[in-house]
Amino acid sequence: APPPRLAGRRLLVSAGPTFEDIDPVRFIGNRSSGKMGFAVAAAARAMGAQVTLVAGPVSLPTPPGVRRIDVRRAAQMRDAVLAELPGHDIYLGAAAVADYTPAETLPQKIKKSGETLAITLVRTADILAEVAAHPQRPRLVVGFAAETQDMEAYARDKLHRKGLDLIAANDVGRAGQGFECDDNALSVFWRDGRHDIAHGPKSRVARDLLSLVAERLEALR
Ligand code: C5P
Repeated sequence: APPPRLAGRRLLVSAGPTFEDIDPVRFIGNRSSGKMGFAVAAAARAMGAQVTLVAGPVSLPTPPGVRRIDVRRAAQMRDAVLAELPGHDIYLGAAAVADYTPAETLPQKIKKSGETLAITLVRTADILAEVAAHPQRPRLVVGFAAETQDMEAYARDKLHRKGLDLIAANDVGRAGQGFECDDNALSVFWRDGRHDIAHGPKSRVARDLLSLVAERLEALR
């Protein structure tokens, strides 16, 4: 039998949402379930890769044979990803990282008072773009793009702007795929190519995506 497709490869994958704390009881989160990133981690392991999974706050079991690092906030995810970067051949950013975080986390619970309440948010670092520009950049950097319109144009713009090798776009406006779902469908773009992965269970979609990743990695040499 031929060796598994990702034998000897080291994959770093981020998954899940991030929770940005406002005070001791409240946070800003998002609807990412982590299922796609966890499916990628499990499939990559099954395909022979050594896998490190940086997971936001989700209650999913760790896939067998996968090394998992749990984080909560975008800033913690960034620190964990950058610390793990050396030695990895592939970075796949499947996490739905918060774009904004509260300017400060209050030490006490905010009390009800006025009719309105304003919370100042500040931009977070773009982990994916930072990984792609890093001196220890993995040979293949893969991003995700959740889009509701003009998917290819936005995905290709992200591919160039963030300096990625591949971008996997999903149409989150469509029922039965994407966030909080067991199914997904992806359109994957690279500089001079496109490959569509048919709608189905995230486990199969993950395997198809990783076959493409393996192929792109082989094309590099
Ligand atoms: O720009 P946008 O958020 O649509 O890009 C999505 C991709 O960028 C995903 O791969 C996501 O993991 C990554 N990302 C990141 N850090 C951020 C925001 C997004 O790594 N702060």
